Amino acid sequence: MAKVKQKTAWFCTSCGAESPKWTGRCPSCGDWNTMVEEKISAPAAVAMPAGRHKAVPRTVNDIVAVDEPRIHMPSEELNRVLGGGLVKGSIVLLGGEPGIGKSTLVLQNLLAIRNRRILYVSGEESASQLKLRADRIGRGSDNLFIVCETSLENIFSHIEATEPEIVVVDSIQTIATDTLDSSAGSVSQVRECAAALLKFAKESSVPVLLIGHINKEGSIAGPKVLEHIVDAVLQFEGDRQYMYRLLRAIKNRFGSTSELGIYEMCRRGLREVSNPSEMLMTHRTEDLSGVATGVTLEGIRPFLIEAQALVSTAAYGTPQRSVTGFDAKRMNMLLAVLEKRVGFKLGAKDVFLNIAGGLKVSDPALDLAVIAAILSSNVDMAIPSGWCMAGEVGLSGEIRPVVRIEQRISEAEKLGMTDIIIPQGNLKGFDTSRLSIRIHEVAKVADAFRELFG
Ligand code: TYD
Ligand code: MG
Repeated sequence: MAKVKQKTAWFCTSCGAESPKWTGRCPSCGDWNTMVEEKISAPAAVAMPAGRHKAVPRTVNDIVAVDEPRIHMPSEELNRVLGGGLVKGSIVLLGGEPGIGKSTLVLQNLLAIRNRRILYVSGEESASQLKLRADRIGRGSDNLFIVCETSLENIFSHIEATEPEIVVVDSIQTIATDTLDSSAGSVSQVRECAAALLKFAKESSVPVLLIGHINKEGSIAGPKVLEHIVDAVLQFEGDRQYMYRLLRAIKNRFGSTSELGIYEMCRRGLREVSNPSEMLMTHRTEDLSGVATGVTLEGIRPFLIEAQALVSTAAYGTPQRSVTGFDAKRMNMLLAVLEKRVGFKLGAKDVFLNIAGGLKVSDPALDLAVIAAILSSNVDMAIPSGWCMAGEVGLSGEIRPVVRIEQRISEAEKLGMTDIIIPQGNLKGFDTSRLSIRIHEVAKVADAFRELFG
């Protein structure tokens, strides 16, 4: 028998690029030391039900737009991040670090769905482990089928047998197809399996939810490839010290990517946090210096968040700058603005900044609260607890307008704030007469300082 030469190729574990030979640096994404050798077989595609039809080009006017039919998920936070429910025939990747709660989130939602057959393929946990988790969440189900399987071909036969309306694969890195020799979790396997499941989703209109692990660098393990195969990429993240978990869409063909879902991991599963401000505010009874409340926006939802700063004389020669939850470069820029435009000498001081709740905020409107927290700590004067603020800070110390100021003001008022500092000219005709919150418009950082500390 003639021995078939085993073919191999080199794959980049970071972006999935393929190369016939080893290179120290990935020719595609430029990362170093990411190429791994994997066995490949002749490009025998995964066997899929036949039925290839040819598409006919049509003019835009001839195409009738239909709203994507969606399956409503029990968790409203999940629905919102998905863009209004799970679109039929779509393939969604839920990524996150191991142990963050991906399986819990999915299982909890599936258990609450009634009257739909669902297939949950687990390649990671045994059926009894899943049962224990379901018990912990406190729910049972007659329509959720669980199978522990790692072969793609077998998964398709399970699908044929159960005829589910939703398919979940936990996790994509544990399944493998027989058509490839490489092991589960390798770039080629993940790519091939995801492509086959995508084809299944498109042809059957059954939505497929893939769970995927993220590696240290924060990309979905190896397979960044997956990100462009799937319709939506949701990321589940959180800080291990905090029980809060954030769900955000990194990509979504059927909705916005600016939505944020917030959960809290409790003893009996995940709890939705529908009022995020509750988690982002410390419930302080005394006024502390170095704490300022900003009104920020994630997606379309405004919420209040606390910036905490500590400014102290540097103990060592080089002052320390330490930031969590905020861009370090941006904080350095704000410190430079304070130094140059407001005349605070912070060059020889240690500055520590922390955004409460373990949330990473990218909204520039938080600048003003960050500056206020730093100033407050520096002069050791507390900002009254009913005060909050929103505004972007420019290089010349000017406070620049922010988007959706009306919603921010309404949210602040709803949460019982008495005063809000906003950029001058930002209101533009917004009727504030029915609001009881006092609005302070400022044009420069120095004005804000005067409003806050007299
Ligand atoms: P899990 O969903 O297994 O994470 P992933 O699938 O992302 O790897 O969640 C694991 C963690 O969640 C585990 O440390 C225990 C915790 N947990 C709770 O705190 N409460 C619960 O009700 C459940 C089911 C899990
Ligand atoms: Mg899991």
